[in-house]
Amino acid sequence: MLSRNIYEKTSKLLKKHDQEQILAFWDKLDSDQKNRLLSQIEQLDFTKIDNWVTNFVKKAPYASINADFEPVGFYKPEPENAEQQKKYDNAVKLGKKLISQGKAAAFVVAGGQGTRLGFDGPKGNFPISPVRKKTLFRIFAENISAASEKYKAVCPWYIMTSPLNYDQTVEIFRSNNYYGLEKENIFIFQQGTLPNFSPEGKILLADKSEIACSPDGHGGCIRALHKSGALEDMKKRGVEFISYWQVDNPLINIFDPLFIGLHAHDKAEMSSKALRKNDPKEKIGNFCLIDGKVTIIEYSDLPDEFAAKRNPDNSLVFELGSIAIHIINRVFLEKFISEDTSLPLHSAVKKIRYIDQTGRKVESQGIKLESFIFDAVPLASNSIVLETIRSEEFAPTKNATGVDSAESTRQMITDRAASWLEYAGVKIPRKHDGSVDCSIEIAPSFALEKDDLKAKLSKIPPIKPGAKIYLE
Ligand code: UD1
Repeated sequence: MLSRNIYEKTSKLLKKHDQEQILAFWDKLDSDQKNRLLSQIEQLDFTKIDNWVTNFVKKAPYASINADFEPVGFYKPEPENAEQQKKYDNAVKLGKKLISQGKAAAFVVAGGQGTRLGFDGPKGNFPISPVRKKTLFRIFAENISAASEKYKAVCPWYIMTSPLNYDQTVEIFRSNNYYGLEKENIFIFQQGTLPNFSPEGKILLADKSEIACSPDGHGGCIRALHKSGALEDMKKRGVEFISYWQVDNPLINIFDPLFIGLHAHDKAEMSSKALRKNDPKEKIGNFCLIDGKVTIIEYSDLPDEFAAKRNPDNSLVFELGSIAIHIINRVFLEKFISEDTSLPLHSAVKKIRYIDQTGRKVESQGIKLESFIFDAVPLASNSIVLETIRSEEFAPTKNATGVDSAESTRQMITDRAASWLEYAGVKIPRKHDGSVDCSIEIAPSFALEKDDLKAKLSKIPPIKPGAKIYLE
């Protein structure tokens, strides 16, 4: 039996922070339910919560953008002169060496709910490749396996899920026999959650004995990597560089020697890949330099007048967009933990299912809080930006149809394969408008990059219009 004492102590604490509604159904709970609710309450830091309510829930957070921002300096996809050519060559050599030494690890954030795609289950299980219908997870696994083979190294893979899709994700990996990778080199863990609020700042209840929570955003990965033991595991393995990407992008080049090499050469702590935006309001983060620090401003936080700002040569001031691909030093993340540094929170008004104070189930607008990993970029002592080519590395599957959909991603997988094959001298059937007239998929074991194809030319059959070609 729980003593009256605990109830009174908890009730007093909640009253002090204006959250006494959490105990509204206390008298109706059995002792297991009471214990469950108490343990959730114990995990909440009410001093922080007061601050969140004031600054993020009750008022829309003002995205303070320093108007004195400058364009960010960045490396172009190809070197611009002989001196830079030398630097790129050396960076590639260094990157290859670091990967071969087992100093790089793969890390995908896969905790999102994939609501926009309308797919039931973890997004990583979405069948995306145009010919074999491989899932996103399988494509990543095959990339990692091919890199491991190519660099003769163990390339561990860390996968962040949310509490909502952890069990399913573990089961998907198990039932697919870990896609042929060694189970001990795969580390699946859960991110944390944050409570949901009413617009008035009250913590909502999902049920009479359960606080309504949602995943704490990909910025939650820093604490989750620590709490799960993943950071410790990396340290034991000698991993220094974490290759971070999002689960929706099958074109990711996970172990990119140039990116890793430039990052290491420039002694950066967290670096990013970027591309030129399609449109001033493209829905990707925006790079700029604020107080001398590389900063990424989310598209939804960038006022239109900034997004549309142009240089005298008519190019966009915010020309570079973030594709959420980073190299992050393990030690940089460890510092967040040892110095107890938190990333800022962002709030979003979302439909939330909860029970009201009469115990009725409702679905209504509430506030969700999240942190974003890219807010760590300006905290890095040094940070490089490497521009990349969209068609080579970015084909996100976010929506059911239209822009950034499964259909556009599949087309981009074929288009990249076609351009690699043409580079290697293979004839590709094209329609009158120049578009590729077949579906092509190249297995990562066949080629991880376009230069790998030159040694495989004898294995490539002639490609006829309308064909479905799988190269493995
Ligand atoms: C994201 C980026 C945007 C970037 C774009 C590139 C944010 C807020 N914005 O937009 O800057 O230009 O991708 O494609 O991220 N995730 C978790 N846990 C969570 C929430 C998300 O692991 O709690 C993961 C998702 O599984 C996904 C990734 O984070 O892999 C991005 O989340 P998503 O909501 O899809 O972000 P976008 O709005 O698409």
